[in-house]
Amino acid sequence: MTLEKPTILIVDDEIQNIRVLSEFLKNEFRIIAATNGEGSLFRANAIPQPDAILLDIMMPDMDGYEVCRRLKADKATTNIPIIFMSAMVQLTDEIKGLELGAVDYITKPYSLPIVRSRLQTHVRLKQARFDAIRAARFAAAGQLAAGIAHEINTPLQYIASNIIYIQNEVSELINAIKEGKLIDLQAACAESELQEAIIDLRRGVSRISDIVLATKDFCSQNDAEMQYVDINNLINNVLLIGVRLIGNNHHLDVCLDSDLPPISCHPGRMSEVIMSLIQNAVQAVLPERNGDIRILTKRHGDWAEIHVMDNGAGIPPEIRDHIFDPFFTTRDVGFGQGLGLAIVYDTITKLGGTISVKDGPAEGSVFTIRLPVDGSQTETPNP
Ligand SMILES: Nc1ncnc2c1ncn2[C@@H]1O[C@H](COP(=O)(O)OP(=O)(O)OP(=O)(O)O)[C@@H](O)[C@H]1O
Ligand SMILES: [Mg+2]
Repeated sequence: MTLEKPTILIVDDEIQNIRVLSEFLKNEFRIIAATNGEGSLFRANAIPQPDAILLDIMMPDMDGYEVCRRLKADKATTNIPIIFMSAMVQLTDEIKGLELGAVDYITKPYSLPIVRSRLQTHVRLKQARFDAIRAARFAAAGQLAAGIAHEINTPLQYIASNIIYIQNEVSELINAIKEGKLIDLQAACAESELQEAIIDLRRGVSRISDIVLATKDFCSQNDAEMQYVDINNLINNVLLIGVRLIGNNHHLDVCLDSDLPPISCHPGRMSEVIMSLIQNAVQAVLPERNGDIRILTKRHGDWAEIHVMDNGAGIPPEIRDHIFDPFFTTRDVGFGQGLGLAIVYDTITKLGGTISVKDGPAEGSVFTIRLPVDGSQTETPNP
């Protein structure tokens, strides 16, 4: 699957301005446009979300400042870089725009090549920020490596001891044959439990191979490799390598809808999403009580749903609007970077999906991811 061009939203009440900009920028960017404030808020929230917004200030009804204020106040759009474009050349206008959270201010009449290169810079910066966040997150995967090593070590140990057993048994049989003591080879083999040892050996090798495959998927962060993924299988793989994370104190209930169709996504990123939600669920449960963590998948019309539920502390209403913000955390220093849900949000919205949270039926929280089942319906903005 090829990567889409970055999407730019041009907001200007003069259609002619939109035409000129679109014509000049269309080779590098996918252009969407709005001619008023309301329309721009709608388009900024639509999928695919713009990677940057060129925003005129002087517009009837709602001016560009107000649009900027609203976009910055909304967690779904707050991270989109906004570049004001205006004929208002007072320094105070420019300062006002930047104070509202815009990243840049271009005065009219503008040079089209300059608009293009500033757009490219801001789109790249936005991406670089997320890449840096992701890299930091990925570094934390070192902890995961310890878990994987542990998971592999257990089957390896019984493989090693079975090999020693098989070796001893076989050399005894060979000696018996050499010395002419062996009369019934089949009976001797049956008695020696050699078959069981070999079956056990194969079971251990197959478990290691499952873990290695699951790890490979988990570590594939390559943006170019978007593919149709069996989400149920992916969840099982995440659980295979993340089982230590959940520990023995909690009860895990997994209920996967066998009719769930494959979903177009990056397996590595989707694994990271599931792992982050499980990690949060585990952290939400007080250490002194046993946690109930439930993972469900189900098809709902044109959507595949993934639910991750816990019976933990729940999310207080006053922080609910911030939990998807990058670096928002309520954990003690050193115990959380506040990046898990920001990355989950980024990954899911880029796939044309949604993530929401509500209180659990009795306590705790329920996180729900919805993804379009037909990947061809969604567009893939730049990663
Ligand atoms: N299942 C949950 N129950 C209760 N609170 C939650 C849950 N999931 C997330 N939160 C709240 O949302 C905040 C942000 O979560 P997020 O995963 O983004 O960051 P973090 O867990 O604090 O750190 P990181 O994931 O980077 O280690 C958490 O600090 C916590 O307050
Ligand atoms: Mg987290």
